[in-house]
Amino acid sequence: MSGPSDRAGGQPPDPRGISGQRKKAAILGGGVIGGGWAARFLLDGWDVDVFDPGAGAAAALDEVLVGARRALPMLHDRSLPPEGRLTFRPTLAEAVDGALWVQESVPERLDLKHAVLGEACAHATGIVASSTSGFKPSDLNAIGARAIVAHPFNPVYLLPLVELVGDDTAPAAAILREIGMYPLEIGAEIDAHIADRLLEAVWREALWLVRDDVATTAQIDEAIRMGFGLRWAQMGLFETYRIAGGPAGMAHFLAQFGPALKWPWTKLMDVPDLDDALVAKIAAQSDAQSGHLDHRALERVRDDALVSILRGLRRRDQGAGAVLGAHDARLPAPTFPVTVARIVPVTWGDWNDHINEGRYGQIFSDAADAVLAAADAMPAPGDGWSFFTVETTIRYRAETRIGDAIAVTTRIEQAEGKKLKLVHSMQRGGEILAECDQLLLHVDMESRRSSQMPDAMIARFTALSDDRN
Ligand SMILES: NC(=O)c1ccc[n+]([C@@H]2O[C@H](COP(=O)([O-])OP(=O)(O)OC[C@H]3O[C@@H](n4cnc5c(N)ncnc54)[C@H](O)[C@@H]3O)[C@@H](O)[C@H]2O)c1
Repeated sequence: MSGPSDRAGGQPPDPRGISGQRKKAAILGGGVIGGGWAARFLLDGWDVDVFDPGAGAAAALDEVLVGARRALPMLHDRSLPPEGRLTFRPTLAEAVDGALWVQESVPERLDLKHAVLGEACAHATGIVASSTSGFKPSDLNAIGARAIVAHPFNPVYLLPLVELVGDDTAPAAAILREIGMYPLEIGAEIDAHIADRLLEAVWREALWLVRDDVATTAQIDEAIRMGFGLRWAQMGLFETYRIAGGPAGMAHFLAQFGPALKWPWTKLMDVPDLDDALVAKIAAQSDAQSGHLDHRALERVRDDALVSILRGLRRRDQGAGAVLGAHDARLPAPTFPVTVARIVPVTWGDWNDHINEGRYGQIFSDAADAVLAAADAMPAPGDGWSFFTVETTIRYRAETRIGDAIAVTTRIEQAEGKKLKLVHSMQRGGEILAECDQLLLHVDMESRRSSQMPDAMIARFTALSDDRN
């Protein structure tokens, strides 16, 4: 089959913040959330020192890292930087020493937060942030600390949102962007910030619906994930409702559904008593719904689905997908003759957890793009010329699976006249997985016929292949 390949150029990589001098983060409390923070920093190349006196803290953090190491690299089309160094420290002071970022993630008790943040601020020179779900900066700093709120979402290693509250959050926001997160700087402090207030409203209603035998836990989850949960991931609340208002937009929507706010659709601020009977009822329904999967299996189901959703949103440059695309653009491109270096994402798996022929085609197409970029021969819309791929021969040598770290090296076999011949070798740790011969023709976009490459372009391809030898 012949036809134009998709040769759209991407943003040049911005190496700032990805490499260079070693950066250190300190994680105080390495539980569910602290472990997720540790993974974010480590997998983006930062060194991480952890202080957590809890028995079994290291083992628990290790389990979070296993999940993160599998899922996070799959989000990206490029390799992440080499993982940073993880060290457990016996004292808080040693952990925060020299850290550019200190993240407190101890249990949600104000007295404990005061003690930990007070000691952290006495020793730290970098940013000191708290993962608190509900406390305001003025609560946290009441006894003299200088912490800001940096409230993340579980799993911290996949969800980009961090609510930032406090004085001068701009430097913190810059660091969070550097590690692929989305800082939402909130100007005013309020208990539970923004997102948890919204979640709490839904949670309250759900508890009532179960208590009053209107719905089971499973029915409530279906009501969310089959409908508005999908809308929320890509547009949120207000933009979704604007569309629901039709061409007349938001004002029309408010006129139509505004009065419903005064109808008894919701129980609003009342909270059902979480007595023993209600707790047992919810726990039993939850067991019936999800008890066939243990905790780690559920986490894996969640992570694989989140990776798929985020990669899908990325193709549309929408919502969290745009954050992911921006982070990928900051990661360094591989250096020729390496033309692809990445992890095989879960979205590429077939029923066997292998990749199918279509994905090899994508990988070698990406490799050809990398050659064009390296030779400064990547066509842009309106250039009047392009390259069309007219022949691809792929030889499959070994199985390629989800999660594999793959690299493609490319040899320029011919760059003459109209023809660019490439030979790709795809490998996993030195083992050849597939080879590909590819013929591209230089094309005049007006006549849609093959045309001579300019001499200067040929010279650049030749120089590239000479450099390699
Ligand atoms: N779990 C969530 O979904 C979630 C989401 C966002 C924010 N948060 C917030 O993150 C914080 C931590 O929550 P979590 O769910 O990770 O709790 P967790 O219980 O999983 O972890 C807390 C960790 O802190 C350690 N710890 C206790 N005292 C300590 C001390 N003095 N110094 C250092 N470490 C200490 C414990 O050993 C434990 O490993 C809370 O403030 C919570 O509100 C939680």
